[in-house]
Amino acid sequence: MTEPKRKRILSGVQPSGKLHLGNYFGAIKQHIALQDDGECFYFIADYHAQTTLGEAVRLELEATRDAKRKPRSGAEILQENVRDVALDYLALGLDPKKATFYRQSDVPEVTELSWILSTVTGMGLLERAHSYKDKVAQGIAASVGLFTYPILMAADILIVRSNVVPVGQDQVQHLEMTRDMAGYFNSTFGEIFPLPAERLDVAAKVPGTDGKKMSKSYGNAIEIFAEGKPLKKSVMGIVTDSTPPDAPKDPETRTPYLLYKLFATPEEVADLGQRYRAGGMGDGTAKQMLLEKIDAYFGPFREKRKQLAADPSFVEDVLRDGAKRARVETEKTLAMVREATGLAH
Ligand code: ADP
Ligand code: TRP
Repeated sequence: MTEPKRKRILSGVQPSGKLHLGNYFGAIKQHIALQDDGECFYFIADYHAQTTLGEAVRLELEATRDAKRKPRSGAEILQENVRDVALDYLALGLDPKKATFYRQSDVPEVTELSWILSTVTGMGLLERAHSYKDKVAQGIAASVGLFTYPILMAADILIVRSNVVPVGQDQVQHLEMTRDMAGYFNSTFGEIFPLPAERLDVAAKVPGTDGKKMSKSYGNAIEIFAEGKPLKKSVMGIVTDSTPPDAPKDPETRTPYLLYKLFATPEEVADLGQRYRAGGMGDGTAKQMLLEKIDAYFGPFREKRKQLAADPSFVEDVLRDGAKRARVETEKTLAMVREATGLAH
């Protein structure tokens, strides 16, 4: 009897800044938990991060205008972010022996497949992308690369013929688009790609300090690896309205409660909810309780991260080895695609 084939699980995260609680509870936590459930591929999407690197350079120049520090170049920013994301994942429990962990730009088959998929993708499909519209509304330059971002993302997923893609709620439309592209390709050239499904965690949409979706680019993030004063500053900076502490409150409308829920046991959550509803519970107290939870939960990971960061070649060795393993699969898929589309010669 043949063994049932293990599911292929794939996900990526952009190296576009420090990872935050939304990334952790929406995506990273399930990535790590799934390591034993299937054949996992996790990667750092540095090609994707280039779509907003111009904006990062502009912000760097602004931030260093009056400071003594020399501004970092675009290359330095991207490379530092890649290293940070890799260290974060490894400290949080990604085991590179179980999961194939790599850097997108070490796997060139992705960009070739992206081109081929672009030839079966309608403009109308891309024009409907919320993420593109949101980024342009935020002031990010509407480059062709930003517009075709979902095609590159589909290529990431399809190049290893993934079945399951664990992500946060904001990526669901990209998964729908990926299935559309796989379908167009399969119906034109033959069934090569399985249709991948998204997998959402319970915390698919974590609120930021302003109550909107937490995001690296909205200035509302609580970083996973912040500690001490900066961490306290972001937690205490959670925006709450001026309902007096004595007034009864609906806990579901309080950001400190919604974030506390991510860490606390069901009994602790019920207790805090009850205190809010009864009145006499101020948001300041809830923020303090949240801060304690964050410190207790991430404290051990901070120590682990410091140890890993002390070894200068560790991250690079892990990523290079991961790319080598990923390419065994990506080369196979690309050979099938080239054959099917008339590019094998
Ligand atoms: P950001 O919006 O901060 O730039 P990314 O787009 O790099 O984050 O997202 C990386 C992963 O984290 C994705 O799977 C995304 O869905 C998830 N994610 C990001 N923000 C949140 C959030 N606020 N709540 C839940 N998941 C999130
Ligand atoms: N677009 C994703 C994000 O912003 C990152 C990403 C790139 C990704 N390629 C992917 C996620 C492939 C899952 C699968 O979060």
